[in-house]
Amino acid sequence: MCGIVAYIGRRQATPILLEGLKRLEYRGYDSAGIAILNEGLHVLRTIGRVQVLEELVEKAGGLAGTIGMAHTRWATHGTVTDRNAHPHMDDARLGHGIVIIHNGIIENYSALKQYLIEKGHAFCSETDTEVLAHLIGELYHGDLETAVQSALREVTGAYAIAVMCKEEPDTLVVARKGSPLMVGVGNGEYVVASDASAIVSHTTQAFTLADYTVAKLTRNSFRTTTIDNIPTTAEIRELEFDLAQIELGDFDHFMLKEIFEQPRALRTCLQGRVDVRSSNIVLGGIGDHARTLANVKRIVMIGQGTALHACMVGSYLMEELAKVVTDYDFASEFRYRNPIVDFGTAVIAVSQSGETADTLAALQEAKQRGALSLGVVNVVGSSISRETDAGVYLRVGPEIGVASTKAFLGQVMVMAMLSVYIGRRRYLSTDFVSGFLRELEAIPTKIERVLESSALIKTATARYIDRENWLFLGRGVNYPVALEGALKLKEISYIHAEGMPAAEMKHGPIALIDKGMPVVFVATKNSQYEKVLSNIEEVRARGGAVIAVATEGDDHVRTLADDVFYVPDVPELLQPLVTVVPLQLLAYHAAVMRGKDVDKPRNLAKSVTVE
Ligand code: G6P
Repeated sequence: MCGIVAYIGRRQATPILLEGLKRLEYRGYDSAGIAILNEGLHVLRTIGRVQVLEELVEKAGGLAGTIGMAHTRWATHGTVTDRNAHPHMDDARLGHGIVIIHNGIIENYSALKQYLIEKGHAFCSETDTEVLAHLIGELYHGDLETAVQSALREVTGAYAIAVMCKEEPDTLVVARKGSPLMVGVGNGEYVVASDASAIVSHTTQAFTLADYTVAKLTRNSFRTTTIDNIPTTAEIRELEFDLAQIELGDFDHFMLKEIFEQPRALRTCLQGRVDVRSSNIVLGGIGDHARTLANVKRIVMIGQGTALHACMVGSYLMEELAKVVTDYDFASEFRYRNPIVDFGTAVIAVSQSGETADTLAALQEAKQRGALSLGVVNVVGSSISRETDAGVYLRVGPEIGVASTKAFLGQVMVMAMLSVYIGRRRYLSTDFVSGFLRELEAIPTKIERVLESSALIKTATARYIDRENWLFLGRGVNYPVALEGALKLKEISYIHAEGMPAAEMKHGPIALIDKGMPVVFVATKNSQYEKVLSNIEEVRARGGAVIAVATEGDDHVRTLADDVFYVPDVPELLQPLVTVVPLQLLAYHAAVMRGKDVDKPRNLAKSVTVE
């Protein structure tokens, strides 16, 4: 959802900015731009990927200078054109050489634009960001920091911005509300970015800007203030980030790397949290709220996309293990339907990035209504993790591929632990818990077995690669897996796929089934196995091609399905942790076969920081 990076220091800024942009490209890749301040302002912008910008910079003979900023865009206001690409400048005739990059949305930009037009400003783009550039220019009276503070007091919406001014070539001003922004503190230099991936190769010391905070950076010092100019303290911390985690290594794509990383990621997620001997789950982040959770009346899980599918699995786990009434909802819907939430409710916000705007806003709404708020988040220090009362981190490492894979497994694993954590304080016996925890610990090794079938899944996928419509069906706890399988296929191969409860097929979608239409069933051995087999028969009777995810040793399914992907036997409630893996691989292989850009699918962004 737009990546921003800025630099001030003693080194050449351009290579640092371009490298940073490549790391942040997962956030958006419609267009890119760069601005360097060096005896004047040098700006290059283009539609297309960062690589196109890189070529443009090369053609221009490189851009020398030690202060600058760069941006990779995911369009919100204004189509994808060179003019709408960032950086944006204030009015060339009236202005002061203000230049800005922005991630977020200025909601009242129309009113501000009208005001500025009346003052004589002329605009070159359709963006809300250009309005902010002009506003800062309008309010500039010799001090950039003051102008930025004044402008931000007039603005509603979300922003992470970096601003420079021709008249102050040794100052970089950055600010944040709602959208992520981090300042890396080096030796006589600062690297500012949307996330740590663009910072860690330069410094591991960094601070996150709080909402409504402005940082003024010069080469030798920095200060932070609120937008009302009240000084604040920045808490510099060590970034825990292993560069290898954000490199491709021997894999062709981040998505494949992340699928194969899942066993290791889950082991890290479980580490130190599962104590089989004492039948205990240790979740330090929520320890202070253990008693409240044990007495909670209702739980609501919220998220978007893949995170919502994890919420759905979580609701089965929670109701079954903790016996707490549990609902799930799209954060975007929950927020606007005047939700009934009270002091007996706990709201769990699930998010890989911890920055999804809808999830964050829904969480704030629930908090206001008195709910205990918990986060199940991957990115440490992200907005959602800071906003919640307590939470459990996924610890699955950075996820770069836009289509979420290992984060989904981490989310489900945390949900399982959380459900046992609460259940153990309510109804669950120690015997049951120790058996269940053993099963949890065995999951990573079982996933390793599933990964061994990658080649087989690829061969099977090839047989259906020309089909444009797929169905994914599952029941019970595997119904969200069907949704997730369909979502993965849509996201990266642009094949139309629908996921639904297997029984629902008869209520309409069965009309779609014709000869050879691929229908993927999650048909593992569990309480609904026989019912799923009947649904398979219904598809076969209409000529559909059946692809089944089944339990190892189930030879009967082989007689019914055209292709079978076997997974090890695991208890019903934990099945999503293994059944989703073949579907991730299927989607991956389909996208590669269709020649699609797996890690950067069209129109998508990894982190959706606008509503
Ligand atoms: C975007 C991504 C999805 C992700 C969803 C929620 O749509 O493309 O892969 O599931 O956002 O993201 P979050 O960071 O909140 O888990």
